[in-house]
Amino acid sequence: MSILIKNGRVITASDDYIADIFIEGEKISTIGKNLNFVADEAIDASGKLVFPGGIDPHVHLDMPFMGTFSSDNYESGTLAALHGGTTMVIDFILQTQGKSLKSALDEWRSRSDGNCYGDYSFHMAVTDFNDSTQKEIIELINKEGITSFKTFMAYKGALMIDDRQMIGLMNEVRDKGGIVTVHATNGDMIDFLIAKHKAEGKLSPLYHYLSQPEITESEAAGRFVDMAYYTDVPAYIVHLTCEGALNQVREATERNQKVFVETCIQYLLLDASLYEKDFEGAKWVMSPPLRQKKDQETLWAGINQGLVQVVGTDHCPFEWKKKLMGEKDFSKIPNGHPAIENRMELLYSEGVTKGKISLNKFVEVSSTNASKIFGMFPQKGTIGIGSDADLVVFDPETRHVISHKTHHMNVDYSAYEGWEVKGKVETVLLRGKIAVDKGKEKISKGYGKFIRRGKINKVI
Ligand code: URP
Ligand code: ZN
Ligand code: ZN
Repeated sequence: MSILIKNGRVITASDDYIADIFIEGEKISTIGKNLNFVADEAIDASGKLVFPGGIDPHVHLDMPFMGTFSSDNYESGTLAALHGGTTMVIDFILQTQGKSLKSALDEWRSRSDGNCYGDYSFHMAVTDFNDSTQKEIIELINKEGITSFKTFMAYKGALMIDDRQMIGLMNEVRDKGGIVTVHATNGDMIDFLIAKHKAEGKLSPLYHYLSQPEITESEAAGRFVDMAYYTDVPAYIVHLTCEGALNQVREATERNQKVFVETCIQYLLLDASLYEKDFEGAKWVMSPPLRQKKDQETLWAGINQGLVQVVGTDHCPFEWKKKLMGEKDFSKIPNGHPAIENRMELLYSEGVTKGKISLNKFVEVSSTNASKIFGMFPQKGTIGIGSDADLVVFDPETRHVISHKTHHMNVDYSAYEGWEVKGKVETVLLRGKIAVDKGKEKISKGYGKFIRRGKINKVI
């Protein structure tokens, strides 16, 4: 099977030129002007952008959490991702405390195997680091191609690990060639504030926000950065939201330290005023919570300063009836919001068309850097000869409105309902196959493949 994409404006993290792209099988085989190749299929991309398929390295599909499961499974989640131009996701396996990493991997595989439309990988969340867990790290890296290990400094009593475990994990992961990622907020401070607010009868979604002030994140980010400095492990902070936390990373550069930072689309675009909408605010109950306008400015600037390398989603949707579990108590509202389908179009519309980031930066933070950081480059995240033909043909002019009535995510509301965006995903290719064309899926469940990842480089 071959496909010729004609006359597109090809955008990578570093380039911007008009060319044809010839695809044979799953790979890009030739890029050039006026290619006269006979192909099984041709796509006219005149006037369109062609960029690498998005990589969202922070999603939670079919995940058991807070007494329920996130509402997108591997089928609906990866399909919605493709509709939005994201061809690969990295999902999180959660170790059950007292059990092995392998048993968690088996459990996650039983839900994901054969069910994905798009390509996927896993981070392993280590919630119980002990002698036997330690022995499993090398196996995950070398045998399974799972090279990133997630830690939670919050969710006390459920997922949180202490600093002793963190140091132990960091040492092991450094030695074996992986990377440690973190949900960096201070679980004890948050636990205290939740209990205090509940005791005072303050039970609305606003108090979710007020239980996680900026200091809870900047303190934990600083502590994580220090531990990563001490252990010299490749380190990555997930869903960083605020000025205080980013300043910890900025400060660490003064001692020549490098810590990778991911923010998520919601922290760039939405702010904490949404929690003032009474219980409707539950749509945006997530951890960390939305912040202030000044934090949005810091994050956009951080992207352009090279301090923030990745824009993900932390996609973790719950249907409204599940959010209602916390109607009388904000601490029971399942944390998370839907965004897997909207990330690329929102980032293009709000970032590129409004002059906040360049087109090359858009590609870098939505695809290329995640591929580099998590050990998949140049197979994924770029347009190059020999790379997987994961491509988005994007109409930069078409305007449309985001709505739960038209999205493909398995959730009955949109966190961005009514947002008008400029730019639309038109055709999405995944490993040389047209996966989505003008809103219609062209592949079947099971086409999505587990991607084994390589060892981690400390620099990208
Ligand atoms: O609110 C969130 N973020 N839900 C998913 C779990 C996590 O902390 O990433
Ligand atoms: Zn988190
Ligand atoms: Zn998350």
